[in-house]
Amino acid sequence: MIVYNEKLKSFHLTGGRFSYVLYVNKAGFLQNVHYGARVQESDVAYLIGYRASAYAPDSEDKNCDMALNEMPSEYSSYGRGDYREPSLIALRRDGARMSRLRYASHKIFDGVPAVKGMPHARGGGSTLAVTLKDDCSALEIVLHYTVWEESGVLVRNVEIVNTGSEPLVLEKAFSFCCDLPEGEYSLLRLCGSWARERYPETAPLAHGVTRLQSLRGASSHQVNPFTALLQKGCSEESGVCYGVQLIYSGSFALTAEKTPVGTVRLQGGIQDIGFLFSLGGGETFVTPQVMLTYSNEGTGGMLRSIHDFIRAQIVRPDCVYKRRPVLVNNWEATYFDFDNEKLFAIIDEAAQLGIDTFVLDDGWFGKRDDDRSGLGDWFVNQNKLKGGLQAVIDRCKQRGLKFGLWFEPEMISEDSDLYRAHPDWAVKKEGVKPVCGRNQLVLDFTRKEIVDYVFGVVGKVLRENDISYVKWDMNRNITEVYSAALPPEKQGEFMHRYILGVYDLAERLTAAFPNVFFEGCAGGGGRFDAGMLYYFPQIWTSDDTDAWERAKIQWGTSYAYPLSAMSCHVSVCPNHQTGRTISFETRGAVASLGATGYELDLSKMTKEDKEKTKAQIAAYKEIDELILKGDLYRLSDPFEGKYFCEMVVSKDKSRAYVVGERMLYMPCDYDVTLCLAGLDGEKTYRIRELNITASGAALCTVGLKFPRLLDFGSWTWHIEEVR
Ligand code: DGJ
Repeated sequence: MIVYNEKLKSFHLTGGRFSYVLYVNKAGFLQNVHYGARVQESDVAYLIGYRASAYAPDSEDKNCDMALNEMPSEYSSYGRGDYREPSLIALRRDGARMSRLRYASHKIFDGVPAVKGMPHARGGGSTLAVTLKDDCSALEIVLHYTVWEESGVLVRNVEIVNTGSEPLVLEKAFSFCCDLPEGEYSLLRLCGSWARERYPETAPLAHGVTRLQSLRGASSHQVNPFTALLQKGCSEESGVCYGVQLIYSGSFALTAEKTPVGTVRLQGGIQDIGFLFSLGGGETFVTPQVMLTYSNEGTGGMLRSIHDFIRAQIVRPDCVYKRRPVLVNNWEATYFDFDNEKLFAIIDEAAQLGIDTFVLDDGWFGKRDDDRSGLGDWFVNQNKLKGGLQAVIDRCKQRGLKFGLWFEPEMISEDSDLYRAHPDWAVKKEGVKPVCGRNQLVLDFTRKEIVDYVFGVVGKVLRENDISYVKWDMNRNITEVYSAALPPEKQGEFMHRYILGVYDLAERLTAAFPNVFFEGCAGGGGRFDAGMLYYFPQIWTSDDTDAWERAKIQWGTSYAYPLSAMSCHVSVCPNHQTGRTISFETRGAVASLGATGYELDLSKMTKEDKEKTKAQIAAYKEIDELILKGDLYRLSDPFEGKYFCEMVVSKDKSRAYVVGERMLYMPCDYDVTLCLAGLDGEKTYRIRELNITASGAALCTVGLKFPRLLDFGSWTWHIEEVR
């Protein structure tokens, strides 16, 4: 709900359990008054008196603007007294960059504003649009705030309008700014690398600017476009925190600036390093959306709000709760070295085990026997696959399986027919030898004709073959940021235009093939973000499938993304990434906490493991609805203790599923209590595997003991209400 109080000039936005209060002060600046626990509308006057007046520049006297440096701003500008990081820098023709934004008007309307060409919240809710005007240029800024009655998430973005006739250049155009009051905060971030994506890291927020960013053209393995500010004392299920998450997949920056007086400025959006966007007279620039999530129930409360929001507003509605196929992917089974016989052996076995879909990974097209050639040539390699894709699809059909196929649409190999025909289609700069990543170059997706071409060739494969699943991979980041097709003054738009090209292709392919289920991937989980989830309901979480490493990666990922978004596979041991051997049961248990599948040569499995696979798939089909729709409670942090343990509870609290894993065994170890969470205290439950019956209250407060297990042992518990 959004309430405007004419007398106070305040806006009170509410959703879930939060209130967000803004007010136009006497000098006409829009300032933040409160972001936190839900308050009454009648409290707004008190909040303005208590919070706002201390900072409010309320006259036009000479020193008024210096007060901007302390004022909790909603979108900060540059060069007029606020020395904190600005949200916006606009360079004018005369070389001036300063701006100062004052309230001009506002509108309140139903729904979410359109963000053309970019992923966005899909609908419902109500929006406040506040227009601010620069008092020294023709710039107008429209701040959008959308709230939903039941959601703990607030969505923001910004429209920047050049109302003049002279062009200007945006050097920085963040999506939001939020100044929080003084406090002792820690910053949570999700960092890592290939095969170690989204490890959580929490550290006290130090004075100055803390910056999380990607310069890679993708959201990256290294730093996820998510962060959370935790108030002192915030833990998994109690305390206050603020989540910040971009609905964007390209280069980004998120910053948290702690001032000398302890207040914190959170802001972020499109990466400003290298960004220069020219805005002609009358033109408008629209930033990506950001999700802000307030929780007073710890990080657990925050992540459940985020999961609900991503499922309700980001993921395709026709796919979000659709049963995910249990699949087998041939990548780790064969890598590039396959032929019909090898694939048929996997397909035949998959059918025996209850697998739904066979996904043919990299290497089926062009001349591609290793990663040095073939990308861009999206026609089947008949030498490798006798009878082409049709033969493999026929085999799948005969065995009752569906067929999925791998693409890497954004890439081109120098050794490819496509490159020989269009060497200028690769991202590079004449006279500069391009840096190769995984022996490949990136197609210039800022150019519409190239996106059109890829749409045509990938679309042809999808049209001519019975394909139900696509894995869209992306295995390198961008260098030599330059487009032969852009004029010099627009080269600074490259990175943003590139990701718009990716979104365009994803939008067109998913619309043209509505029955194809798309999985995102980027050399593992190198582009795991809310932007990609708009098109691809699930994303390959990491190339590391070692069941202990994976538990940690999935734990980190779950801070910002629902379990249903994570593709999780059982792979062979010794594990290809870590060399470690972990039992088949534990690999299956960890992989059941997501969209599950297998990534190994089924035909080489022992009889015993085949039986285990059948049992795992049958067990998964019992709980997959919980994975798609349930609430996640995280019981034991693998980064802190000896156990990983997560629990999913159905919305009506009648069922739950627990998965746990022990790290290293220790002789004579003492027992550790495991309290369940999320159950209804009044209800009685039975834990099937333990044959225990007790109330939700007892299970969540007294708890039980962690099972005593050897290295990397695991358990799964099915919990049902006893009526
Ligand atoms: C990286 C992906 O993460 C893998 O699963 C696999 O698809 C390879 N690329 C294929 O090149």
